[in-house]
Amino acid sequence: MALQLGDTAPDFKAESTEGTIQFHDWIGDKWAILFSHPKDYTPVCTTELGAVAKLKSEFDKRNVKVVGLSVDPLDDHHGWAKDIEETQGAALNFPLIADDDRAISDRYGMIHPNADDTLTVRSVFVIGPDKKIKLTLTYPASTGRNFDEVLRIVDSLQLTAQHQVATPVNWKHGDDVIIVPSVSDSAAKEKFPDGWRAEKPYLRYVKDPSS
Ligand code: BEZ
Repeated sequence: MALQLGDTAPDFKAESTEGTIQFHDWIGDKWAILFSHPKDYTPVCTTELGAVAKLKSEFDKRNVKVVGLSVDPLDDHHGWAKDIEETQGAALNFPLIADDDRAISDRYGMIHPNADDTLTVRSVFVIGPDKKIKLTLTYPASTGRNFDEVLRIVDSLQLTAQHQVATPVNWKHGDDVIIVPSVSDSAAKEKFPDGWRAEKPYLRYVKDPSS
């Protein structure tokens, strides 16, 4: 059965470029992003991993740990890391898991046989400190992901977790947010004493409480 939002992210033990990882212990009380890439020594993946390395401080700021995965062995990961540093101008600064036996890829549904039965697709799992899956993304091998969008997603998820607000279309940090429908007007008065702007009774905007 495919993993769904709200499910507990399966725990696992794996070898990575930064040593052995017991996934839930490694996450600790932080947020985590587990992302798969199809294959080592491939061009799109090379650019993605360089981009994530450059964004590491942004993930740190948000209390998020990032970890990549592919079905290639650790030796390949170490060799490829040199190419990533050389071509992308950023060295890997997060672990890359070697899932040679595909145990993790299978458990997380990262192999889509109708796309390719040997390689992982580009999956992203955002996992909360409670170890629950908060968001999943699936891209085909040929489309590189937008990790600025992944950061934006984290900002939205963390706002919802902390303030019972949702984020509207194309929202970015600092834009007004929306009071979730499950918060009544009387509860909203306590939560948002400075008030809100209601365009409809169900469409209530407040300032981004985190900015
Ligand atoms: C890539 O990362 O460039 C890639 C990997 C597998 C298929 C297509 C592209």
